[in-house]
Amino acid sequence: MIRKIAEGVYNVGAIDWERTLFDEIVPLPQGTSYNAYLVIGEKKTALIDSVEPEKMEQLLRNLEELKVKRIDYIISNHAEQDHSGGIPYLLERYPEAMVVTNQKCKEFEMDLLHIPEDKFMVIGEGDSLELGGKTLKFVMTPWVHWPETMSTFLVEDSIAFTCDFFGSHAATSHTFAEEYDHIYHEAKRYYAEIMMPFRQIITRNIRKIEALQPNIIAPSHGPAYRDPGFIINAYKEWTSPNTKNEVLILYVSMHGSTKKMVDALVNYLGDEDVQVKVRDLVTANLGEIAIDMVDVTTIIIATSTMLAGPHPNAVYAAYIANALKPKAKVVGIMGSYGWGGRTVEILKANLGALRVELLEPVLIKGLPKEEDYKRIKEFAKKIADKHRELGVVK
Ligand code: FEO
Repeated sequence: MIRKIAEGVYNVGAIDWERTLFDEIVPLPQGTSYNAYLVIGEKKTALIDSVEPEKMEQLLRNLEELKVKRIDYIISNHAEQDHSGGIPYLLERYPEAMVVTNQKCKEFEMDLLHIPEDKFMVIGEGDSLELGGKTLKFVMTPWVHWPETMSTFLVEDSIAFTCDFFGSHAATSHTFAEEYDHIYHEAKRYYAEIMMPFRQIITRNIRKIEALQPNIIAPSHGPAYRDPGFIINAYKEWTSPNTKNEVLILYVSMHGSTKKMVDALVNYLGDEDVQVKVRDLVTANLGEIAIDMVDVTTIIIATSTMLAGPHPNAVYAAYIANALKPKAKVVGIMGSYGWGGRTVEILKANLGALRVELLEPVLIKGLPKEEDYKRIKEFAKKIADKHRELGVVK
């Protein structure tokens, strides 16, 4: 399917309706797309990014349909294989093409794809490439989400091609975003899963793209945006230091005691006017946990005791939180045990990268008793006090 973005600019990439998993861990409930953009100038033709190698047939068919006989430049904004993996195949089909990218991306692609060094044209910040009536300008936007990521700006048509940045895992035949609630959710999920750890750097990159004043933002996953303010403002909200008056409780309960503690905490937090999201770590998937983490103030990990420590699902949740580095300000641990264990010690060790205040843990023996409920109530009060201190309570 070819999708026209502007005169002489086409999305010739592939839609992957069937894919359910990315990086062998990230669920793709809406599939995804690998957008590759053909830019036809009066003198030269460029292709911005490619597709997953398994989807090359779609890309080549689209190029054939547009009767593309020659590609002069393959612009590579990002070395990850869902965008670069098709380049070796393109070089076979269009041997005259040069791969245009920054030095770091070139090095990655020589390692990852074995593209020979003499096939590269290295560009840097602010460099441009003239295609004849269409000028491509390169803007370095590192850490969205690899160190080499960059964006390409088509000056005359005012289109920013941002690759993963501002993207969403959504298989859609729409050229431009239309169902905004749906796309907001998918873009937030994508941000949460891979961009969130690089929040500070992304803030700078948002400013760089905003300074271009693009009329269109065309990422390499999901639909393009004819109103860039929508996705730019969403990114500003997610990357800002502001958090909501919300607690995310991630729990696993083997025989119901921890669940009772969670239920009590939910009720007590409600009494304190604190909003709550609860995820059962047995059934919740990474995408949902990640999205929940984007703007909560407090994360609570609640676990049964297993093999003298936390349940492995709780360790997984702690590890994921530690890796995604959400902007939460407070973390708490709670749970139930039968005869002891190293739950707190092990979970703490897995949360070391977070700059948060760790609340005094609440661990209880067996089923919660009256005095345990009092402790949980105090725990809820402490969380609410922290929220008030932090000014997140409206
Ligand atoms: Fe869509 Fe980082 O690759």
